Amino acid sequence: MCGIIGYVGEQDAAPILIDGLRRLEYRGYDSVGIAVLEDSGGIAVRKSEGRLVSLTSILEESWPHGRQGIGHTRWATHGRPSDANAHPHTDCTGTLVVIHNGIVENHRDLRARLEAAGHAFNSDTDTEVIPHLLEEHLKDGTDLHDALAQAIEELAGAHAILTMSASEPGVIVAGRKGNAGGVTIGYGEDEMFIASDLPALLPHTQRLVFLEDGDTVLIRGREATYRNHGVAVEREPQEVGLDPVSAAKGNFKHFMQKEIAEQAEVVLDTLRGRALFGESRVDLDDMARFCELLPQVRRVLLTGMGTSLHAAMIGRHYFEQIAGLPAECDNASEMRYRGAPIGPETLVVSVSQSGETVDTLAAMNEAKERGCPQVTICNVPGSQSSRVADAVVYTRCGPEIGVASTKTYLASITALYLLACYSAQELGVVDRERLGGFLEPLARLPKLVGETLTHDSIIEGIANEYYQHENFLFLARGIQYPVAMEGALKLKEVSYIHAEGYPAGEMKHGPIALIDRDMPVIAICLRDALRDKMMSNIEQVKAREGIVIALATEGDRELEEKADHVIYVPETSPLLAPILASIPLQAFSYHVALRRGCDVDQPRNLAKTVTVE
Ligand code: AGP
Repeated sequence: MCGIIGYVGEQDAAPILIDGLRRLEYRGYDSVGIAVLEDSGGIAVRKSEGRLVSLTSILEESWPHGRQGIGHTRWATHGRPSDANAHPHTDCTGTLVVIHNGIVENHRDLRARLEAAGHAFNSDTDTEVIPHLLEEHLKDGTDLHDALAQAIEELAGAHAILTMSASEPGVIVAGRKGNAGGVTIGYGEDEMFIASDLPALLPHTQRLVFLEDGDTVLIRGREATYRNHGVAVEREPQEVGLDPVSAAKGNFKHFMQKEIAEQAEVVLDTLRGRALFGESRVDLDDMARFCELLPQVRRVLLTGMGTSLHAAMIGRHYFEQIAGLPAECDNASEMRYRGAPIGPETLVVSVSQSGETVDTLAAMNEAKERGCPQVTICNVPGSQSSRVADAVVYTRCGPEIGVASTKTYLASITALYLLACYSAQELGVVDRERLGGFLEPLARLPKLVGETLTHDSIIEGIANEYYQHENFLFLARGIQYPVAMEGALKLKEVSYIHAEGYPAGEMKHGPIALIDRDMPVIAICLRDALRDKMMSNIEQVKAREGIVIALATEGDRELEEKADHVIYVPETSPLLAPILASIPLQAFSYHVALRRGCDVDQPRNLAKTVTVE
């Protein structure tokens, strides 16, 4: 969950680390720290509870100077946020430092063993066992790379680790075990960078190596030497060709605002070169293995977590309606333990913006063991999920920095639609004309997304009226039900308001008891086969003096008589309507959160990528 950065080169390390941490703060932000190997030969550690700004004020008083260092922004798992629990952690000598992402599941045993051997601990974290363990290994005369390679084998759980020692100047050693988030090595001209995420690397270099499970790497000068489980391996840097500018806030006040605003472009980028309208065909890259496995597929199981799960729930309708395949959707944290009867006949489609979410990866690994063909929808090239799956459909959004997912959600839905069309095409279950019918509304989709975004001031007005309410209900039916779930999730995440998304048919089975003047109901009532059913639900809410904010299809004036407020979205095909309906709900959360004085980009307790269970 945490953000990790490292630097070795000729420049002053601390400003580079701070800049990297600023770009990584979305990963975790309850404490922060850096360690620099100073030119004088000593290791300087500066760390603090709180956000990066609390560290920078410490640095203003005493700025460490040296040309290598490591930095960390924390999302606490073991040990509350505090100065002492912030990373980096040191060994007993204070000459070796470690930053870490993951959970040392056997930390109690290791700590007891190390304390018995005379090691003194200064924090309540699980991480602190690592520097002491390294210290033990170094006593045997091994070097830092050997020591980390040995220590990491002793740590239960999944880990991403960076370490350096005053006794090996010019060297940073990193390791990755399991799925605790990525470790990526960036090759600069005369310098090397290490980071958990691309936004911290892209301003410096696009030549990257993504560490594999079991890898350790020793970085010295411009060289990197890799091992996997102790055995030397070659890892060639690849050019990722990503745009660093898209990771900057530009003229927007918040990343969330910017990322909502760029969704028309993002949808267009996800479609570009893939939806071939003239030929009524879908073309996706690197699908040979997928096409080989597709004929055996009899059903589809979609999975993901949070917002990505909601995208997957919409994707379920696409596989059923477009490809004619029975499809289910399961929360990855449940699927991984469910022992579901799946095998080579089940296509597993996972959705993960980061490609590093621990539960999604575990569900994918479970599916792999059972021989399921797999395709993943992902935004981060080289991520773990892209390696586990047989094929990847990238969402091409550029980095998403706001902790609340917005643009990657829209792009994931778009990619799922393309994948369902592609599957139908390759299975031969649709003829060209029918496939053309599914593709045609995609051509106007980016424009319609743009039009939907222009209603922002109306939504801001409604947000201003209701931002003080403490409970919201989101109701929808059919393919819009996941949109209601996502609308409620977004509001909870960024404004800390209690909100629930329900299938409207379920309302009478309990939630209706909550409805009164204090409970605004956001009803998604677009023009589709279930619109009249939704109208009845709206009547039922109004009959109990509930407040109704309705999402309606442009031109559907009837709702104005029933609802307190109507937000219009342009008409598109019912299958693509969830993409448009999601946008006003994102904007509503954003404006409500702003009025409540919340930090929309870094909401409390959250982290962008959840790499621990
Ligand atoms: C949503 O706003 C959150 N960012 C969260 O629910 C997220 O979608 C979830 O943690 C899954 O992340 P992933 O897409 O990177 O797997």
